Amino acid sequence: MVEVSRHDIIIVGGGAAGLRAAIAAAEADPSASIALVSKVYPMRSHTVSAEGGAAGVAREDDNLEMHGQDTVKGSDFLGDQDVIQYFVEQAPKELALLENWGCPWSRNEDGSVATRAFGGMTVKRTWYAADKVGFHMLHTLFQHSMRFENIVRYDEYFVSKLLVEDGSCRGVAALDIRTGEMSAILGRAVILATGGAGKCFPFTTNGMIKTGDGMALAYRAGVPLKDMEFVQYHPTGLPGTGILITEATRGEGGHLKNSQGERFLVEYDYGVGQKAELGPRDMISRAIIREIEAGRGVSGSYGEHAHLDLTHLGEEKIMARLPMVRELCKIYVGVDPVSEPIPVRPVVHYMMGGVDTDIDAATTLPGLYAAGEVACVSLNGANRLGSNSLTECLVFGTKAGEKALEYARGAPAGSDDALRAQAEEESARIDALRGRKKGGEKIAAIRHEMNAAMEEGCGVFRHQDTMGAAVNTLVQLKGRVSDLRLEDDSKVFNTEVIAALELHNMLDVAESVAVSAHHRKESRGAHTCRDFEHRDDQNYLYHTLCYHDPSGPRLDKKEVTLGTWEPVERKY
Ligand code: FUM
Repeated sequence: MVEVSRHDIIIVGGGAAGLRAAIAAAEADPSASIALVSKVYPMRSHTVSAEGGAAGVAREDDNLEMHGQDTVKGSDFLGDQDVIQYFVEQAPKELALLENWGCPWSRNEDGSVATRAFGGMTVKRTWYAADKVGFHMLHTLFQHSMRFENIVRYDEYFVSKLLVEDGSCRGVAALDIRTGEMSAILGRAVILATGGAGKCFPFTTNGMIKTGDGMALAYRAGVPLKDMEFVQYHPTGLPGTGILITEATRGEGGHLKNSQGERFLVEYDYGVGQKAELGPRDMISRAIIREIEAGRGVSGSYGEHAHLDLTHLGEEKIMARLPMVRELCKIYVGVDPVSEPIPVRPVVHYMMGGVDTDIDAATTLPGLYAAGEVACVSLNGANRLGSNSLTECLVFGTKAGEKALEYARGAPAGSDDALRAQAEEESARIDALRGRKKGGEKIAAIRHEMNAAMEEGCGVFRHQDTMGAAVNTLVQLKGRVSDLRLEDDSKVFNTEVIAALELHNMLDVAESVAVSAHHRKESRGAHTCRDFEHRDDQNYLYHTLCYHDPSGPRLDKKEVTLGTWEPVERKY
């Protein structure tokens, strides 16, 4: 029998957004019971791997207007300007709060918080703690969350279904990975904070856990995914592994070079102007691919790439500001950046799209909220600026916690029996999957084909025919995935069944990316279509909504909230 537990709010995901939401709700109402459910122990959430920093106005030569303008321009005018306005106002407050909770931000000589340059930002506004920002932020949030007795953790529980009753979200069905038993965790509101879906692609900075779970949960419950076509390639990943080499390397003065040793962003016109290495990610990723296409790539055992040269920075600065970069390069590519250039190439890093939410982090399903990378609150539009996302987790994690609590106060609890029955059905579905030896398809084979289709169809440069081919492949794979063969029929730590559930999630998310991309017949931000090279505000200045439908994804549009920053040609 499925076990039932009750709380006021359930948060799915234990990274920066989830923890921040939990703290906000727990602080606002110490009598409210907050469940924090995560498929990994919170300190293993992907936030931990963030490196370069979190943006927020901190200096006298900066202001909110400038941060807003940079973000709107970076988004290629697809960001919602009311959301951006709210975000830039809250950002410095959230970062200072983290400082109060113990986050060891790096300092200037005079003791003030240090900030560094990041791509697409006009001034130094990225707060950092050397190059281990995610680690320090996550530690700070996790430790602070432990002060609240009303936060109840469910570590290593995999949420496989949202429980919906009378048109409202009232809980989750969650598999205890340790025992293999299903629980119905019930509440009056649910917040998704499960991160992105980079593992739909073969070459990514994302950890194994980023399989689009929250996006798929909301999508199947009828909530649209928004702007899924916009997938961010970070310009500098290590060839082979995809390990992130932070943009802070360029913020601290690193240079990108081609095989002739030229700083190609300075030598050739890639639209980044004076910004050079501090241009936005979409433009720099395209520039690297174009250099390779022009025959100026550097050859290596993992294919053509560019060079990131830090040698002129000197050992002292590298050790003070970028110690982890040095360590990663030595371990994974056998290069010491103090004396040699680092091989780098564009790598899938972040989904601008996600679960459609409004400025209050609310979705269209009453009782369901989302924050962080899983969500698309429309802060980032068609291209996110580096270092806005950690801050986004804080600003909209807080918002989600507060708003979900407010909602929960007036919402009915729902029926234990009816919700338990849904979780029991889900339990039976997973039991049938576990050790399913009659199937003919391998998880790894389908995942591999999905990855290949996504790289081919939805890469840095896209074509109508390859995007169309990706859509067709995904339709076929979704058919084949119902015939999986699973070998492990044990219940305890059955990671094979979790991999199967994650594969289902990734296929749904990947399909929404490919279908949305195929539909957008223009080039904007990270969506660069070689058949339609220009931005087309006349016909495409809108958000794409993608709805789940048994017969295939259904697309719709949502208006972009404009404001004082009029759409103009994006030049740097
Ligand atoms: O390059 C980086 O450190 C990544 C930062 C980000 O994606 O915000």
